Amino acid sequence: MPIEIKVPSLGESVTTATVGKWLKQPGDAVKTDEPVVELETDKVSVEVPAPADGRLAAHAVAEGDEVDVGAVLATLEQGAAGASAPAKAAPAAAKTDKPAAQPAAAAKPAAAQAEAPAETDYDVLVIGAGPGGYVCAIRAAQLGFKVACVEKRATLGGTCLNVGCIPSKALLQSSENYHAAGHDFAAHGVVIDSVKLDLARMQARKADIVGANVKGVEYLFKKNGITWLKGHGKVEGTGRVTVDGKPVTAKHIIIASGSDSANLPGIEVDEKTIVTSTGALELSEVPKRLVVIGGGVIGLELGSVWQRLGAEVTVIEYLNRLVPGTDNEVASQFQKLLVKQGFKLKLGHKVTKAEKTKKGVVLTVEPAAGGAAETLEADIVLLAVGRTAASKGMGLEEAGIELDKRGRVVTDAHFATNVPGIYAIGDVIAGPMLAHKAEEEGVALAEILAGQAGHVNYDAIPGVIYTWPEVASVGFTEEQLKEKGTGYKIGKFPFMANGRARALGMTDGFVKVLACEKTDRVLGVHIIGPCAGELIAEATMAIEFGASAEDIGRVCHAHPTLSEAVKEAALGADNRSINI
Ligand code: NAI
Repeated sequence: MPIEIKVPSLGESVTTATVGKWLKQPGDAVKTDEPVVELETDKVSVEVPAPADGRLAAHAVAEGDEVDVGAVLATLEQGAAGASAPAKAAPAAAKTDKPAAQPAAAAKPAAAQAEAPAETDYDVLVIGAGPGGYVCAIRAAQLGFKVACVEKRATLGGTCLNVGCIPSKALLQSSENYHAAGHDFAAHGVVIDSVKLDLARMQARKADIVGANVKGVEYLFKKNGITWLKGHGKVEGTGRVTVDGKPVTAKHIIIASGSDSANLPGIEVDEKTIVTSTGALELSEVPKRLVVIGGGVIGLELGSVWQRLGAEVTVIEYLNRLVPGTDNEVASQFQKLLVKQGFKLKLGHKVTKAEKTKKGVVLTVEPAAGGAAETLEADIVLLAVGRTAASKGMGLEEAGIELDKRGRVVTDAHFATNVPGIYAIGDVIAGPMLAHKAEEEGVALAEILAGQAGHVNYDAIPGVIYTWPEVASVGFTEEQLKEKGTGYKIGKFPFMANGRARALGMTDGFVKVLACEKTDRVLGVHIIGPCAGELIAEATMAIEFGASAEDIGRVCHAHPTLSEAVKEAALGADNRSINI
């Protein structure tokens, strides 16, 4: 007999809510008290639980609908039959010291299931020790699982720690210091007659920082009793992998193999003159002319490093703008500031050929919309046109694991692949290729495997570009809100009007707060300016907690700090900024 799941009482004076994300789909099995749907009001975000065991029959409302307290949200077919039906995404049963059996996923290859070992060497085996994999391994160990992590690289930490986030941030800081010493210190009355660059020392410092970080992960593995299986992991089927050909078994297998730099036809990377981010972090000389293909995050961060150290940097970008996906207003301000710093931009162009010569590289460049080709000479070319999921050569397809058109592992909302007991997280699945997104997924999955309610809020994942100034954002851009048809109001505050920014001599940029026109709920925050990457944390927390712009505006912010610009922008959403 179907029963109705209704909008519960949401507290005094709250009579309506907006339907957020459906956590259960029609056909899904649900247990009593398991969250079915998220509801949002201007003050709170609540999960509506199932009133009984059963199977969700139908949704009565859609995501984004306004609903009154008492309205029907969904219907539920009550009873054990519903609850025991295959659940695409139900977490394992209550955690003891041993992980419970995994839920069945749709379309399991029979062979993979038949091979499942009765006894396993490990409870959890993670393939890949990047931020997704190593964090997942640690959380799983904390929850009492016996954990192994397979990693073929000589050090732990994946792309992020070895050849990505950490070394690039080390060089960004060093190059910023070098540039400031030569250009900005004099304004502070600090006069340095001659500033010299010791690139070898800068690179050695970077290597030390990387070394300390990767050793840190090794220490954390020891502390948490995690076994590092050194070698190349290959998935054989449910419960089974090989590491450099040697069989290992595990109840839960997690693919966290990350991503690789994308290639471009006609351009052959040698990591010496035509480099990806990996080679661009290792240059032993400052190139005179660096051409960057791709005006995204990597191109602009590493372009900034070498530009500050003296290179003439030209960015060739296919689109007519930089950093696609970033709020347009922020991106256009960013573009102006980069040009002011000396970046040369060739927007709306693509590279069709790269020929190595004795002196460097000759690139053939064409307008993206069609037209006459031209050539461009470079000493070093950095290819930074995105990254692709690292899903090849690991036996995934042979094991029957579904990949999408872009080679990413297909998972359900609980990171389960279509093969029972095999999961995937991080860059190898859909979503932004960001270390912190992978970490969140790693933690959530470990908790799901332990029977807890692990969850990632994809609407509150910040993104940061560590250039000068920094660019940081969380939530929806103005363009996305327009497209969704969501009414919004804008609060904006320039760093020029912030006392601390003036004292620092860092007044470029602004904070932009987008809040719901009706409810004042913060929907997006976009910052270009000093320490934007740090300031975005407050905005992320506000979005995570379902705060209104007024909530941010009513929080006491220390004076004088850059964070006051966030408060002022939030006040601006209600036309009540104080200092402008
Ligand atoms: P991206 O996706 O950020 O940017 C690639 C750019 O290349 C885009 O603007 C695209 O339009 C352009 N492009 C594509 N094909 C082109 C062509 N044929 N000619 C000219 N331009 C072309 O990718 P990117 O910068 O390589 O970064 C890869 C991933 O790593 C991203 O997902 C990024 O988020 C992540 N990452 C994040 C960092 C951070 O959070 N600070 C730092 C570095 C990387």
